[in-house]
Amino acid sequence: MPNDNQKQYLWWQDGLIYQIYPRSFQDSNGDGIGDLKGILQRLGYLKELGVKAIWISPIYPSPMADFGYDISDYTAIWPIFGSMEDFDELLKQIHAAGMKLILDLVPNHSSDEHPWFIESRSSKDNPKRDWYIWKDAKPDGSAPNNWLSVFGGSAWEWDAHTQQYYYHAFLVKQPDLNWRNPAVVNAMLDVMRFWLDKGVDGFRVDAMWHMVKDQQWRDNPRNPDYKEYMATYEQLLPVYSTDQPEMHDIAATMRHLLDEYQERLMIAEIYLPVHRLVAYYGTQAREEAHLPFNFMLIALPWDAQKIAAAIDEYEAVLPDDNWPNWVMGNHDQPRITSRVGGQQSKIAAILLLTLRGTPTLYYGDEIGMRDVPIPSDEIQDPQGLNMPGKNLSRDPERTPMQWDSSSNSGFTTGKPWLRLDSTARRRNVEVQATIAFSHLALYKSLIGLRQSEPSLMTGRYQPVYADSQLLAYIRESEGHTAFLIVLNLTHRPCYFAPRTIRFKGLVIVDTFPEQLNLSVQDKIDLSGDEGVVVRLDEWQSISSNPSHELSPHK
Ligand code: NOJ
Repeated sequence: MPNDNQKQYLWWQDGLIYQIYPRSFQDSNGDGIGDLKGILQRLGYLKELGVKAIWISPIYPSPMADFGYDISDYTAIWPIFGSMEDFDELLKQIHAAGMKLILDLVPNHSSDEHPWFIESRSSKDNPKRDWYIWKDAKPDGSAPNNWLSVFGGSAWEWDAHTQQYYYHAFLVKQPDLNWRNPAVVNAMLDVMRFWLDKGVDGFRVDAMWHMVKDQQWRDNPRNPDYKEYMATYEQLLPVYSTDQPEMHDIAATMRHLLDEYQERLMIAEIYLPVHRLVAYYGTQAREEAHLPFNFMLIALPWDAQKIAAAIDEYEAVLPDDNWPNWVMGNHDQPRITSRVGGQQSKIAAILLLTLRGTPTLYYGDEIGMRDVPIPSDEIQDPQGLNMPGKNLSRDPERTPMQWDSSSNSGFTTGKPWLRLDSTARRRNVEVQATIAFSHLALYKSLIGLRQSEPSLMTGRYQPVYADSQLLAYIRESEGHTAFLIVLNLTHRPCYFAPRTIRFKGLVIVDTFPEQLNLSVQDKIDLSGDEGVVVRLDEWQSISSNPSHELSPHK
């Protein structure tokens, strides 16, 4: 195996990905909805933050039933976001700034207003009929099987005109494409080519584990762990409706196309247990996604031992030479600040930015934005509207970016499409830029450190210690300074005095000022909510357990 110094890393391995939800990032024309020109205005901020690649959620024409994840034209721009010229200019400026652009690709389903579906539903013998999933009713008129929609209710919709059901894993207005039909595969590869030829640097592929379904359309089994408060979709285990073996052929076909271009990236949105997730890297002989999104940090309880074990498991099952990645938030999940609290969200920042692998940062998390309570009569997200009373709306994590202390926080001069956080005047980029221990200051110092230190950027991950409060690990790369990361995942003080290593070093990042720049040796006392990054001058393993042996370093 080549040592770390001989390896060449690609932009998506040593850089940070930043997710923009375009409706909520920056409005440039006062209509209350963010747009491409708005993103262009904020490129300087992203560059300064240290972002390598920007992933933008869908910007294509859409009836907006699912806020852009219901696409009616895959190769155009929705006018509210701007024009194709605006897109070309944005791409040009992103590249001029040395950054990359990743687009959302939504191949599992289109909008029911897409011309493909309009044709498909027009008659049973239309040439595009088989582009979507049509099935006869059971003899009693009921749906072909028991599959449920992620957004509530049955996944089958009756079409009175042609007397068949069509399948939609998500909304009725999001019919699933039939990926067993080669014409669909080719059409979507053409869509990918269209954007790749423009110079787009990659795709985040939406709902990849949903794309191929069981050929026998068997009923999904009941979920014995279902509870009333959960989404109705979780009543069943999606054994037959997701993660089918044939999906790997399609992922490999998509990857093959990307590999015809230089250094393009495929990220796959997949919510699966880790051993099934990593199968989407493919094999050396047949590669699939570069980065199947790793949502562990979103799914796990905030518990040091559980997180430590999950990191170990992920590191252990990653196929050779495949690159890890970590996600702490996105537009579908409660924000980290609202899951673990303001102070602990700083611990989360250290974790995200010091683990081995590409971090993906959700816009606004760098200033500790929290979920905003949206009154029930203002809910817009279909997931919230379709399953009322379960607090499942995703609007709270999609509110406008908080830039400054002006009205609407600098997001828009008009009426924002979704209300801003009531704390926006004090929690925003402008204010935090002036505060030494703000979220933004922490993110900036962590990103800067990561970009300048090979051990943190691409070095090995060495677990050191975990208990009911603490999580500690070392990042090291041959010939470079190593770093010890010690995180207190609770509000109570705790004491790091490991029996497995001896060390000497300097605290160079801390969530609090008091220990910053202090020398530490063999132990660190941490206050509640404290997390530190220690630059190691010396360290040595004193473990008696060879499986945890760390090599001595100076
Ligand atoms: C996953 C996307 O992230 C989510 O926002 C969307 O609603 C579904 N896929 C359907 O496209």
